[in-house]
Amino acid sequence: MKSFSIVPAMRLAGEITVPGDKSISHRAVMLASLAHGPTVVTGFLPSEDCLCTLRAFQALGVDIEVRDPTSLSIENRSHRLSPAREALDCGNSGTMMRLIAGVLAGQSFRSRLVGDASLSKRPMGRIIEPLERMGAHIRAEGEKGTPPLTLEPAELRGIEYELPVASAQVKSCLLLAGLHAQGVTGILEPSPTRDHTERLLAHFGVRPLREGRVILIHGGLTLEGRDLFVPGDFSSAAFWIAGAAAIPGSEIRIRSVGLNPTRTGLINVLLRMGAQIEESVEESRGDGEPKGSLLIRGGKLRGTKIEQAEIPSLIDELPVLAAIAALAEGETHIRGAAELRVKECDRIRCMVENLQRFGVPVDELPDGMIVEGGHLIRAARVSSFGDHRVAMACSILALRADGQSRIDEVGCVETSYPGFFRHLEKLSRASAETAQGWKDYLPWAPARSEPNRIAEAPRCPVVAIDGPSASGKSTVAKSLAQALGIAYCNSGLVYRAITWGLIAKGVTIEREPVFKTTVRQMKIECQIEGNELHVRIDGKEPGQEARSPEVNAAVSHVAASPWLRKRLLPIFRQLAEEHSLVMEGRDIGTAVFPATRYKFYIDADPKVREQRRQKQGETDSIEDRDWEDRSRTAAPLRCAADAAFLDSSRMTVEEVVRRLLDELRKRGFPLPEGPSAP
Ligand code: S3P
Repeated sequence: MKSFSIVPAMRLAGEITVPGDKSISHRAVMLASLAHGPTVVTGFLPSEDCLCTLRAFQALGVDIEVRDPTSLSIENRSHRLSPAREALDCGNSGTMMRLIAGVLAGQSFRSRLVGDASLSKRPMGRIIEPLERMGAHIRAEGEKGTPPLTLEPAELRGIEYELPVASAQVKSCLLLAGLHAQGVTGILEPSPTRDHTERLLAHFGVRPLREGRVILIHGGLTLEGRDLFVPGDFSSAAFWIAGAAAIPGSEIRIRSVGLNPTRTGLINVLLRMGAQIEESVEESRGDGEPKGSLLIRGGKLRGTKIEQAEIPSLIDELPVLAAIAALAEGETHIRGAAELRVKECDRIRCMVENLQRFGVPVDELPDGMIVEGGHLIRAARVSSFGDHRVAMACSILALRADGQSRIDEVGCVETSYPGFFRHLEKLSRASAETAQGWKDYLPWAPARSEPNRIAEAPRCPVVAIDGPSASGKSTVAKSLAQALGIAYCNSGLVYRAITWGLIAKGVTIEREPVFKTTVRQMKIECQIEGNELHVRIDGKEPGQEARSPEVNAAVSHVAASPWLRKRLLPIFRQLAEEHSLVMEGRDIGTAVFPATRYKFYIDADPKVREQRRQKQGETDSIEDRDWEDRSRTAAPLRCAADAAFLDSSRMTVEEVVRRLLDELRKRGFPLPEGPSAP
């Protein structure tokens, strides 16, 4: 399954137009297919979901010509629909299945609607029940009234129906069924939901009447084909609106986006949180949908409370709102949003789980969540759970993590926002161009919050050298130790020796509880002999076997164990009781010897490191290694705030060592008489 890696960005900047509105694109194809006369739709969203609707109406006998991916010419020359030869595939789209069911329930032929695994779990009882009251015959093949659905031929009659849940999909299904029913259909909404169907019906010449909270539609009226333009999808723009508003220094302009007030609840919530958003509505082209442009400037937001009444106007934006709530000061409460549990995934459960992976404190509620903002966002590996909006919401939060994050199963983004990741790169790269380069993304360990700061200074001087894979730190550390005439210690050797010991004993390394027991019984000896670290496990040194392919494959798993890292701390620290050391690793300056004054962080441009690793014959990707090192919970790779940072991209080993010696001198390291710089 496709994954996407996201590096942190300082800000979001630039100008974009988002793809066409998904809700309107579905409806445009459906209503134009029912109309007499031709319609040209421009701005159509050619996403997986909407293409399913397009193919379905082609299968029902409508002429739909795709002029370019976003422009369709639609005409139903026979003025009726014909039975499709096969089941109509609704893919991942709840909107398509619920709305097309309204169109097909009153036809004189049988239809079958199928969907993917996620859609096959979504509730259809909410449309089956009122449609059957209108006279439809529908069989849900799934266990809990879930798809596939078979709709038998039927003649419908108008009813009055009060929706038990505020749902534009159910309302639209009944409006479309009402169009094919005898008499009048009246629908009462508990609270207003998106009104695209009503606006489009009016555009095609059949204006539903409103009487208070009731919407009325007369059966048997004929729609007239009329060209229309689909504005950009506000729900797609929402990722940039929310992201830019919550990331200080951002500035984004979004043009030609739909600004239908039944969809833009997110703007009201963000304004309440302190966001800076300017909205300018353009003159309508007469197709009934307000659109315009938005200018968003980033700043510090504060938490807010989102209550049931505003949920329908921002239902699809709640995942990204939950994500950026983590960047706001204080708590954000989302209540009255139980509907989220029956979307493309259970969006409450899945967002809570992902936020927790990013290190965000969050409480799950039956109908929402409480997100506590203002904490450090940890780089994380999360899943989309097959839900496009979860994938995109988490991508926005990942921009503020302390390292590279990864979102798994991102293929689903194609259902609503093809090109999302291209836009993400464009808008976050604009900030990279104004930044100094890759170094601006380094995760610095904040000195204040290091609990180990109180650790005692080592008895003998210790030079701590940390850095990522292929940064050159081992060669440099060895050379430096030699120049200083003190011991060289590679902390990684200890993890390798233990891994070797575990493999020799045939222990399962994947499970920490299992290898813990064995490690507890191991005799681990670390000694400095001839200025080098020697590690013995139960009296034996691993020698060359410490670098065997088996050890290579397992060592990162062993080293990721928080328990083991803690257990080794006294062993490492003991070495400095009697010896001056240069010790290198990933957490020497931050966790092992946080109190030493002699700290370095050596890094290099990822492209240079990639080349170095290839020369060493290593095939694993630098990106993956960095991700593992920076995102693990136990002692993740960080540049300590008081470490001297060195970019070795364009330096020789000798130059780096000379720089380290200069810095050591400045920091008062007791240098031997006339150290021989290499
Ligand atoms: C939609 C309505 C909403 C929304 C969905 C699209 C529509 O669903 O979540 O993405 O196009 O009518 P409900 O109406 O079921 O809340």
